[in-house]
Amino acid sequence: MNTAPLQGIKVIDFTSVQSGPSCTQLLGWLGAEIIKIERPGSGDATRNELQFDPDCPSYYFLQLNSGKKSLTLDAATHDGKAILTKLIETADIFVENLHPGAMDKLGFSWEEVHKLNPRCIYGTIKGFPVSSRYANLKAYEPVAQVTAAAASTTGWYSGPDNIPTQSGAALGDSNTGMHLAIGLLAALVQRTHTGEGTYVYQSMHNACLNLCRIKTRDQLTLDKIGYLTQFMQYPNEKFPDYVPRSGNTEGSGVLGWTYKCKGWETDPNAYAYIIFQRGKKDFEKAVEVFGFQDWLTNPDFNTADARDRHKDALIARVQKWILDNDLDKYQVTEKLAPAGVPVAPVLNTKEIMNDQSLYDGNTLVKIDQPGKVGEFVTVGVPFTMSNFQPTYPPCPTLGGNTAEVLKEYGYTDAQIAEFAKNGTTAPLPDGKM
Ligand SMILES: CC(C)(COP(=O)(O)OP(=O)(O)OC[C@H]1O[C@@H](n2cnc3c(N)ncnc32)[C@H](O)[C@@H]1OP(=O)(O)O)[C@@H](O)C(=O)NCCC(=O)NCCS
Repeated sequence: MNTAPLQGIKVIDFTSVQSGPSCTQLLGWLGAEIIKIERPGSGDATRNELQFDPDCPSYYFLQLNSGKKSLTLDAATHDGKAILTKLIETADIFVENLHPGAMDKLGFSWEEVHKLNPRCIYGTIKGFPVSSRYANLKAYEPVAQVTAAAASTTGWYSGPDNIPTQSGAALGDSNTGMHLAIGLLAALVQRTHTGEGTYVYQSMHNACLNLCRIKTRDQLTLDKIGYLTQFMQYPNEKFPDYVPRSGNTEGSGVLGWTYKCKGWETDPNAYAYIIFQRGKKDFEKAVEVFGFQDWLTNPDFNTADARDRHKDALIARVQKWILDNDLDKYQVTEKLAPAGVPVAPVLNTKEIMNDQSLYDGNTLVKIDQPGKVGEFVTVGVPFTMSNFQPTYPPCPTLGGNTAEVLKEYGYTDAQIAEFAKNGTTAPLPDGKM
């Protein structure tokens, strides 16, 4: 049995770039039919962004649009509006992420779509919540990160590198898509009770801030006591009245740090992350494997609070132990993990993408794209289901499914040919849109 959870769900996907497409990509891999509306002639901007070959769609596009159907449609034209209206009339979900006000201008606001099809759920992504003073800003990934405390709390806390820093993780883009997917799935369940579609508004700001919740926790603590024990600045430095950057400390109460391992002089990722848990038993096991039994009776180290106050000395001794023993990041992991010490090697992208075990478990999957692209790797559905295994079809060419989709909606060959000539589904010969 391999029943796709979203089998029979039809999604009209008016999204582009990363945030919206990452959402509809997940819905598609879970079995929904995704009809991707693309502007005639140009399509999703990522098709031609960061290309590895001028004749091929970029990996950016390829990694976010597997299995979707591409329908080119100028929704600003009379016929384009009529076609989109028809698509919406039988859709379960309509999703868009145009700049603020653009969808209203095209005539397909939530209110309009709800009138056309009361069962249709409407998902929208914008940079900011409607109540925000920034609600009208266009938004890309860094806009979300810099306004949701991600950048101000990430990076080094002293010296010349003490500048707001971007996370490599797409906290504003794909993370927003995943948040919207949760909202849309909730709306689908809700519809089984109400019979009606709802409006799911997801801002990049809220999605990013949701992942920065622990930084708001830190602000509350700072407001109360003026310091944060898990930070390297504690106990010797004065804290500002806002949460500073935390370097590589662990976000919770356990004491974690990134340690240099064998080869660090030439390999910028020859590091391992090691955590000292707060519990007495865990600490006893850890000191045994390091050979630091003297810490069990040393008041500077024999309680978690004492270790927080002396983390400089703790880190220095662990660091020396690794380098004296000439251990690489994998050996550090192999040595400490059996003693129950939370530890892991810092892995670079090459190491991850060469790890066969990740392909065996479908964390990473290979998509066979016809033509010059051939096989490429992407990250699959990030969770597993015991009774469903997703498949990973290739990505559509621009407008590759236009005729097929229009036929399904009852348009004749003559009408389809006319739409291609009058600027509805293909650019006009003179380039006018
Ligand atoms: C990403 C973003 C900054 C790009 O802005 P942009 O360059 O103005 O591009 P958009 O796709 O929003 O819209 C451009 C125009 O194309 C039009 N357009 C797009 N697809 C169309 C179609 N199929 N038919 C007709 N018009 C179309 C829009 O209506 C808009 O017209 P307007 O400027 O006259 O109002 C903006 O869309 C945005 O802020 N989106 C919300 C947040 C978001 O999701 N960001 C992306 C994160 S990965």
